[in-house]
Amino acid sequence: MTENQPFIFPKWANLIPLLIPPILLGGIATAVFVMWYWASPKHIEVGYQPTQPIAYSHALHAGELGIDCRYCHTNVERGAKATLPSTDTCMNCHKVIKTESPEIKKLQKSWKNNQPIQWVRVNAVPDYVYFDHSRHVNSGIGCATCHGRVDKMKTVHQKEPLSMAWCVDCHKTPEKHLRPVDKVTDMAWVAPDQKKLGATLKKDHYIDPGLDCSVCHR
Ligand code: HEC
Ligand code: HEC
Ligand code: HEC
Ligand code: HEC
Ligand code: HEC
Repeated sequence: MTENQPFIFPKWANLIPLLIPPILLGGIATAVFVMWYWASPKHIEVGYQPTQPIAYSHALHAGELGIDCRYCHTNVERGAKATLPSTDTCMNCHKVIKTESPEIKKLQKSWKNNQPIQWVRVNAVPDYVYFDHSRHVNSGIGCATCHGRVDKMKTVHQKEPLSMAWCVDCHKTPEKHLRPVDKVTDMAWVAPDQKKLGATLKKDHYIDPGLDCSVCHR
């Protein structure tokens, strides 16, 4: 038996102990990277893009057709929630447009049965965070600043981390993002001179987002 031992483990097996440290180190490095990656506010859920029950495209409706965001997100200037449109809003057009499409048939079914479409939530902050759309939109923060170029998205994805650091960053320096209030839904808008415009808007409208914990945690 003792004579056979060298043959039970082939010769290269002697190398295994030598390989263990690099594998372990690689493992630790990977773990550290993964933890850093997920903990880093820049990466939390950015890019999250769930499949929706109907292949509704913002690129088509808000982009090509140029329908204003507020036509569907009716509460965005009035309250905390932007709100999603009901099937009725879609049927304003789809009673007659593309009625033979399988996707529009799903819409008709929802309408006939009076059953709302179960859209999958994309952007969300935890319950212990207070966020209000109207306060931002009416102060001159554009949809594109927080949601990206939705008018170019076939399927919506999360553009920004929505982390505490992200909120606080802007609350410290809102002038970097302020635009005239009538441009908040203009997705392609860029300031000719953001530095100058931002400073003027901040001063004229007394913009001063709070940094107290109680502003966002009430
Ligand atoms: C014709 C109606 C319509 C218009 C116009 C429209 N949307 Fe939407 N929007 C929807 C529907 C329906 C959903 C839910 C399905 C989805 O996520 O695609 C949605 C979802 C969204 C979401 C993700 C919601 C979440 O769960 O986080 C954002 C952000 C958004 N819209 C922004 C915009 C912006 C910005 C504009 C204007 C450029 C706009 N929408 C124009 C109908 C519309
Ligand atoms: C202002 C009119 C209008 C409204 C409101 C509207 N749509 Fe549309 N939709 C269109 C037009 C126009 C097309 C493109 C038709 C074509 O390709 O000829 C279209 C295309 C679509 C398509 C692609 C159908 C296919 O098979 O090509 C889907 C899906 C769709 N819409 C869903 C929705 C949903 C869901 C809503 C409500 C959230 C909605 N639409 C609201 C006008 C509208
Ligand atoms: C200051 C950043 C900011 C701006 C500006 C902003 N949003 Fe949002 N939006 C958010 C956050 C954060 C959420 C998640 C809110 C939550 O979980 O309650 C969200 C959620 C949404 C949702 C999901 C449904 C809902 O009612 O909350 C829609 C739709 C939406 N936004 C559309 C818009 C549109 C349209 C505009 C421009 C008119 C806009 N948003 C401007 C940050 C912003
Ligand atoms: C791009 C800039 C920007 C981002 C990002 C942003 N905010 Fe704001 N926030 C503002 C501005 C501007 C105001 C309005 C301040 C004013 O009118 O003086 C404001 C106001 C508020 C208010 C109302 C304060 C009050 O006194 O009623 C709350 C609450 C708030 N923000 C929460 C949040 C939360 C939570 C987030 C992150 C999820 C966030 N904000 C992200 C710019 C921003
Ligand atoms: C401008 C808005 C804003 C302000 C001001 C703010 N927070 Fe937050 N806070 C948030 C958001 C948004 C989250 C959720 C982050 C997430 O989902 O990753 C959060 C999360 C937290 C959490 C949960 C743990 C974590 O890090 O995810 C704690 C604890 C917290 N905040 C404490 C505070 C304290 C203490 C202050 C005051 C010094 C404060 N916050 C001020 C927006 C704010």
